[in-house]
Amino acid sequence: MAIERTLILAKPDAVQRRLVGQLMTRIENKGLKLVGVKMLQVTKELAAKHYEEHIEKPFYPLLEEFITAGPVVAICAEGPSAISVMRTMMGPTNGSEAAPGTIRGDFGISRQMNLMHGSDGPEAAAKEIAIYFADNELIDYKPTLNEWVCADDEK
Ligand code: RTP
Ligand code: MG
Repeated sequence: MAIERTLILAKPDAVQRRLVGQLMTRIENKGLKLVGVKMLQVTKELAAKHYEEHIEKPFYPLLEEFITAGPVVAICAEGPSAISVMRTMMGPTNGSEAAPGTIRGDFGISRQMNLMHGSDGPEAAAKEIAIYFADNELIDYKPTLNEWVCADDEK
């Protein structure tokens, strides 16, 4: 099982709805290790880098408007299969289709205002972490509870 890092955003709707604490609690409760956390305003330029694969799609203008409409909280989290674990926790894109128990299923009903972003693969994670965090903003520390979170061959 690979130890991965993933880029997570609490999107502007999550910040405005004061859900950031609850969403970060879910990440921590799952056992993922926070290695970087910061609040920032996404600019149009940053949005275009992040959502490069969507720029030509018809929904991009609305996506750009939404993701730049207020601050986000960017989180880099690490753990076994962190990328897919986070995507599973978030649920599918559209909150109205997301199962109860998932973040999007529990907190929303919208396709656009879906609260969180999570990298969708190792390549995207590497690219997105580099977009949102400088190297010295990612903190390497020993998680002292790890002995009780994962077996030795899972770390
Ligand atoms: P994200 O990248 O934000 O984690 O979301 P995702 O992987 O679940 O969905 P993705 O296909 O990458 O789409 C990125 C964001 O664009 C908006 N969207 N609108 N109107 C539409 O058809 C449509 N499709 C996607 C959503 O806000 C989605 O999160
Ligand atoms: Mg995506």
